[in-house]
Formats: sequence, C-alpha cells, structure tokens
Amino acid sequence: MGEKLSQSDAPLHEALVEYRERRFVPFDVPGHKQGRGTPELTAFLGKSCLSVDVNSMKPLDNLSHPTSVIRDAEALAAGAFGADSAFMMVGGTTSAVQAMIMSSCKGGDSIIIPRNVHRSAINALILCGVTPVYVDPGTHQSLGISLGMAASDVEEAVRANPGAKVVFVNNPTYYGVCPDIRRIVEIAHASDMAVLVDEAHGAHFYFGEDMPSSAMSAGADMSSISMHKTGGSLTQSSFLVTKGTRVDPAYVRTVINLTQTTSASYLLMSSLDIARKELALNGVETFRKVLGLAEYARAEINGIGGYYAFSREIINGRDVCDFDATKLSVHTLGIGLAGVEVYDILRDDYGIQIEFGDMGNLLAIISVGDNHYAIERLVSSMSEIKRLHGKERFGLWDHEYVPPVVKLSPREAFYAPQRPVPLASSEGEISSEFVMCYPPGIPILAPGELITADALGYILYAKKKGSLVMGPQDMKLEYINVAITG
Ligand SMILES: Cc1ncc(COP(=O)(O)O)c(C=O)c1O
Repeated sequence: MGEKLSQSDAPLHEALVEYRERRFVPFDVPGHKQGRGTPELTAFLGKSCLSVDVNSMKPLDNLSHPTSVIRDAEALAAGAFGADSAFMMVGGTTSAVQAMIMSSCKGGDSIIIPRNVHRSAINALILCGVTPVYVDPGTHQSLGISLGMAASDVEEAVRANPGAKVVFVNNPTYYGVCPDIRRIVEIAHASDMAVLVDEAHGAHFYFGEDMPSSAMSAGADMSSISMHKTGGSLTQSSFLVTKGTRVDPAYVRTVINLTQTTSASYLLMSSLDIARKELALNGVETFRKVLGLAEYARAEINGIGGYYAFSREIINGRDVCDFDATKLSVHTLGIGLAGVEVYDILRDDYGIQIEFGDMGNLLAIISVGDNHYAIERLVSSMSEIKRLHGKERFGLWDHEYVPPVVKLSPREAFYAPQRPVPLASSEGEISSEFVMCYPPGIPILAPGELITADALGYILYAKKKGSLVMGPQDMKLEYINVAITG
C-alpha cells in the first residue's frame, strides 16, 4: 500500500470513478456493455450502476490476485478491523466461514464448535470432511433461545479433544448474545488451537463505542464479518480478516480461490470499500445513534406489556458474557403469539419487514439507515398487534434449541445411501439433510443427526406457524431423506 493512503481513501471506489470518467469503449464482458444492451435493467438499476458493473482489468485489479487497488482496499480494511490481513468476499459470509474452516482444517481433523452455528459452518464440514465436536451453547430458561457457549464448557471440550485443530465461535449470536471470547481464545491458544469467529452479526463491534469485544481485539485468528448486515455495504459482500502467526494469509487466499468466482462484482467490492471508509470515519457517531434508537425502542416495547425486549440484563457471566444492545430482540410469547406470527402480521398488515421471527422471539435490525420515525412505526404497530391479536399464552412452543443426537458425521451422512421417508413418520431415522428455518439458518437437524421427537415436533410446529422451513430436497417438506445404515 502506498504510504499516503488513509481511512479517508477508498482506492477501489476511486479507481472505478476514474474508469467511468475515461469513457472506455468496452469490448470485454459483461455483455450488457455498460447497460446499453439491457435498457429495462438499466432503467431499473440506473445507468450509473450499470456503467461500473465491469470485469477485472489492469487498472481495476483482480480479486483472485490483487496487486494494486484491491490490495490497497484490503489493506485499509485490515487496518480498520485491527487485523493483519483482510479479504474482500463476494460470496457472502457463507464463503468467508467456509474459507476459514477449509484453511485451518483438513479431512479427518476435528473442530470444537457450538451447535447453534449457521448452516454455512456445517456445510464446510461436509465439504472438507471435518468432524464436529459440539459444545452445547446453553439455553435461556424463559426465552428458550440458545446462548453463547460457556468458556468452562470449551475448556472441557479442549481437554477431552486435544487433537482438535480449531475452536469456532459465534460473536454475537443472531439475538445478540456474546460468549467470553477473550477467555475462549486463551483456552484454545494454550492448546495450540486456532480460533475462528463468525461475526456475521458483529461488523459494528469494530467501529462503535461500548460494544462487546470483537474477534480481532480478543486475539482470535480469523473472523468472518458481514459488512452487508450491519456495516452498510451491498448484500452478499463480506470481509474475512486474519491476525497472528497461526494463519498464513497467502494460504487463505489460495483456499478462497478454490471456490470463489473469477468474475467478482465491482459493485459489491466498491460497496465494501465505501462502507469501510464510512465506518472508519463516522462509525462512532453512527453506532451511538443506532444504540440510542435501540434503547428507546426497547423501553417503549417493554412499556406495552406482554412483550419482553431483552438486553444486557440477561448477562450471566457464563454463557451470556456480553450483549449487543443494538439488536432489538423481543420475546413474544407473553402476548400469546409466536415470533413468526408477529413477524408475518407486521409485514402483511403494517408494511414492516423485520429480520426474523422464530417460535418465541423476533429480531428487528436497527442500523445505519434507521431513524426515529421508523422506530415509532414499529413500536405503535407492535402495540396494536397486541391489542388486536394478543391472547392467552396457551400451547405455544417455548424453546428454539433442540439438542442434537449425532449418529454420523455431516459428511458421512451427506454421502451415505439414502431413502426418502414421510417427514411425519421419520422419528428415529438419521437425517441425511439439513432442516432449518430461514432466517436464522441454524439447523434444527443437520446431516447425521437422529430425528428425535423434539426435532420433529419443532419442525412440524414451525411449518404450521408459517415459518420458511427449508433444507430437504423435497420442496414441500413432506418427505425427508434419511441415511440407510447397516
Ligand atoms: C451467523 C451467520 N453466519 C453466517 C451467515 C451467512 O452469511 P451470508 O448470508 O452473508 O452468506 C449468516 C447469515 O444469515 C449468519 O446468520
């Protein structure tokens, strides 16, 4: 990187602006030729957008082998995140999580991992044949949500599995729960295990004040950060960051290139460059505002009664060691409705799209783009929903976490001979497929797990309540593929 670059620069963005100003005549891909060949698309997205939807070329560098403006943009990102190196990812945080695991483990290795991970992590285990050692993340008794993996449980798993290569951590969970990441790093490093962190929901930890510890500040080796979730970049754009000597960034790049497109989108990459600059310059102020809005919304929602918008008071020093108070996580069972029911009513009757609703909770993301008007609308709608739809709490499912009973590794089950069985009568079989509600994308069943009465009950209940349940090849979810064993 040139000495003169600072966080107020956005080298990739600036190179794209210069490219556009030079008005090149394109005889390369993409074939829409700056939007001229697809007038309807250009009218929809704007000429300005289409004119920089370009492929890599010398002045714009190449994501697979960055030597100029992408290299500089990645170096600035590393600086902003307190990392040694940063990689722009255009396949979402899914691709970052998979690259972290695949660059730290080989087939036959094992990984210590909480079971409430996003499916992308378990997908990586299928891809590279790594065996999970699950740590129960803990469950909140009254909220029913899975928590953040107690350091003492990690310590026990490390002691029992000294050959494991990696400890994998969520920081935070979707609901905002953070584990004792510093202690977990100490424990893992003392046994020479790398710490990989899924910070899909924690981009703001690096830029705001009074935020929970970020992976890089806690000394973790790698982290996958969804800039597109709370950092302001375009959907599907993320960063993978690394720090320390356990990780060889050149090898990480090689692993990323195993599966990454050779036609990375400059729209996505420039959005990462611009969002990083914006947060590095104005993140403190931005997230002070975000936190203020979230605190206000929480107080108002708790004032309605019935709902419980939870926050730092659930910190217990064990499996909840910090809480991301920018997250507006609300327990809904007190008004007699499942989270997904409130989620659906908010969208259908009030024109409000929140992040997700599960069986007992909902999550509204408050971020850089929000204002008081939007918050007031959310609060007044939730108040009216309680008045119009609230009922006695009766017969509602009360826990989100279904402890797995693992019979085969995810890879063994994925590649095992299989047969479809009716979902309703699948209890006792071993699933060879994922089943999850999306979002949050945390598997209820992962390949290799026993279909228990609890798992089946959750899936059938979630379907009945209108959750988007997915994973199996049967799109109607009437059948599930199970492993044929023996
Ligand atoms: C915890 C977690 N990790 C990883 C991902 C994958 O991120 P992406 O959708 O950017 O691929 C998600 C997506 O929701 C997530 O919630």
